[in-house]
Amino acid sequence: MTPVASPRSVRITGWGRYAPAQVLTNADLERMVDTSDEWIVSRTGIRERRVAAAHETSASMGAVAGLRAIRTAGLDPDDIDVIVVATLSPDYWMPSTAALVKEAIGNTRAAAFDVAAACSGFVYGYATASAYIASGMARHVLVIGTELLTRFLDYRDRGTCILFGDGAGAVVLSGSDEPTAPVGIELTTDPQGAYMIWLPAGGSKAPSSFETISQGQHKIRMEGKETYRFATRTLASTGLAAVAKAGWTPGDVDLIIPHQANIRIIEAVAKGLDLPMDRFFVNVDRYGNTSAASVPIALAEAVNSGRVKPGDKLVFIAFGAGFTSGAVALEWTADPARGPIGEASVSPEDIHVRQPVDWDSVDPIPPALAEILARPLPVALDLSDVAPGEPAHPAQSVR
Ligand code: ACO
Repeated sequence: MTPVASPRSVRITGWGRYAPAQVLTNADLERMVDTSDEWIVSRTGIRERRVAAAHETSASMGAVAGLRAIRTAGLDPDDIDVIVVATLSPDYWMPSTAALVKEAIGNTRAAAFDVAAACSGFVYGYATASAYIASGMARHVLVIGTELLTRFLDYRDRGTCILFGDGAGAVVLSGSDEPTAPVGIELTTDPQGAYMIWLPAGGSKAPSSFETISQGQHKIRMEGKETYRFATRTLASTGLAAVAKAGWTPGDVDLIIPHQANIRIIEAVAKGLDLPMDRFFVNVDRYGNTSAASVPIALAEAVNSGRVKPGDKLVFIAFGAGFTSGAVALEWTADPARGPIGEASVSPEDIHVRQPVDWDSVDPIPPALAEILARPLPVALDLSDVAPGEPAHPAQSVR
């Protein structure tokens, strides 16, 4: 990475998303744990979520979304100076997922590293990228949120396995010589919630062992009620702080892209900000909680489905394990018509993530999902069908 000229204003120039093709429905989960479609929809708003195929990883999905964002921006991979990957489900503890993404997208010159802030990771990554550009250390930064959470879930725990799904989203942030558009960024961390959502084993405190694995300590654990309380308490205040830093009031905001964890949490934020739900982009019904990928997937869908136009005031708001929260208030400046072009220009088959030499991983598919992943793929939803804020259509299966 070579430092560039003086401080600049920061804009989103590229955006992209990737969702694996296979769908896990509430009806599928009814066959695994003691739950019901009615309970899941009424308590969370989730109808289905995506599941990565055996050959996919956080790096491969992130690389598809990242390359799409680069194409949307009209850039070449080597134009990117820094790659920031937000994930809580990295391919490995080391190397970073960002290092694998760098090669897979065909970049030879960027600095690449991961950030760990769970579901707030994309917003934290955005803030990091923004600081690189504003300080003049980089011209173009790729920020990716990518998660393969279905391999970290306990499919016997109905409190967690119904919530999460897989996918990736990305933006390119670029320095501009145009006058600085208003931006507000707020980040918070509250360690009192450190063990409310966590993954007990595999780190230095509890290295993986036969015992940790037999006790399922390598799967996500969560105190749902406490997490819910934190989210509803914190999201509106974090969003308000970012809005105030941009010099706006909540009524000025055209569209909020919230972390898609639970429709009831989004409704609580709307109440907290005194805004109607039609100011919020919602796709939690189709993806569940994709953690760090959730905001950039929702952003790409909002832009590509015509919900965003230049001059619009947007706010990203997220919360997650840590407890962390973060919000970004920004003015949209890019041409939305570029999104579908970038999306169509990259297919998952274009992406090859470097494999280790002389090493084969075990079959990565959780046994509970083997049957789901073996069945025919559903037809992908056309984005023109997406009506933000309204219940979406369930995916149709190919017969
Ligand atoms: N199906 C049926 N019943 C269930 C299920 C299920 N899947 N899960 C829990 N229940 C039961 C409980 O056992 C409980 O039964 P009981 O009353 O007999 O004890 C009852 O339903 C109510 O349980 P609650 O936990 O009170 O349900 P709640 O309305 O709080 O919803 C939920 C639970 C959806 C998990 C909610 O608390 C929530 O969304 N929390 C936030 C979670 C979240 O967003 N996590 C991601 C954070 S981001 C990150 O960084 C990873």
